[in-house]
Amino acid sequence: DAAEKGGYPHFMIKEIHEQPDSIKRTIIPRIVNGMPDLSECGITVEKLREFKNIHIVACGTAMHAGMVGKYVIEQLARVPVNVDIASEFRYRNPLVGEGDLVIIISQSGETADSKAAMALAKEYGAKTLAIVNAKGSSIAREADMLIYTHAGPEIAVASTKAYMVQIAVMYLFAFQFAFAKGKITEEECKSLVSSLLEVPDKVKETLDKIMDDCQYVGSTLINADSLLYIGRGLDYALSMEGSLKLKEISYIHSESYAAGELKHGTISLITKDMPVIAVATQNQLLEKTISNVKEVKARGAYVILICDEDNTFGEDVADQIIQVPKFREELMPMLAIVPLQLIAYYTALSRGNDIDKPRNLAKSVTVE
Ligand code: G6P
Repeated sequence: DAAEKGGYPHFMIKEIHEQPDSIKRTIIPRIVNGMPDLSECGITVEKLREFKNIHIVACGTAMHAGMVGKYVIEQLARVPVNVDIASEFRYRNPLVGEGDLVIIISQSGETADSKAAMALAKEYGAKTLAIVNAKGSSIAREADMLIYTHAGPEIAVASTKAYMVQIAVMYLFAFQFAFAKGKITEEECKSLVSSLLEVPDKVKETLDKIMDDCQYVGSTLINADSLLYIGRGLDYALSMEGSLKLKEISYIHSESYAAGELKHGTISLITKDMPVIAVATQNQLLEKTISNVKEVKARGAYVILICDEDNTFGEDVADQIIQVPKFREELMPMLAIVPLQLIAYYTALSRGNDIDKPRNLAKSVTVE
């Protein structure tokens, strides 16, 4: 067991550290002459041009990767993307059919709800694209098109590296799709791809930079009963995953909220006993998010802010600031997720929980 963990105390922290390599394995074979090339997965520029709507269907963490995908695909390709929870999609008589692409994201490729959702999408005449980590799994076998994520085997129940590579694939797909739709030039596409290739080193740099800060933050959350994660845009999508990670392994209740929506109800929950983790990595939304952060701070919340290293804020904004390296804004989620994973890990660790096998959870849910 100790050998399998490669010197780390838990699989989860080992897998967090494996992320740079997982990203490299996943993206490098799909880049040819500086452009995304998914032809080996059955996806060509000509084929992509035909899709008018995209649906992303998944469960849990994979669904959160889909949320990041929605923001990125819509922003770059200007095509509507609907993200659905598989167990909802399959029973809703969904508005999906010919001309639509349904993307199923699944680490295990065996999740019952995701598998059934894919079968339904096919029955309704949509094309299906599976993004799967486990080789030869049911979802991988049954999809029309398939992109394997090469995270390597993920043992910890709480998914980290699988989410990271699901996002990496979302980016590659979005770049190629945006190019196919004529929404970005070849030059813009190549520039995005070359930034994506820098991500593995940036993730490594992030890990080295913030490990101690996250350990400290985890120790401050040991007695929390409930937490709020806030963000806007891509940072909101990340907040959802940060919140799920914390719930899964620390057993502390938490919720993610779009920062601008707080004032419509949830701000009434804010007291000094409700820590708030704010994610603010998107420049055009920074001022807006910071003003929401000040609102919760003024009501007594203990605030942990995740931003990039170019931003510094005083005590009127946050109690703890975790600064990730500054990088191209569109790709910041791949860096900013790292502190969220680590905060969940160190909080669970300080509470003495069984990190790799949290109670009531299974790595893969193959029955309904
Ligand atoms: C289970 C796991 C989650 C995972 C979800 C979807 O609930 O505990 O970590 O996100 O299934 O799994 P999949 O294999 O389809 O990505």
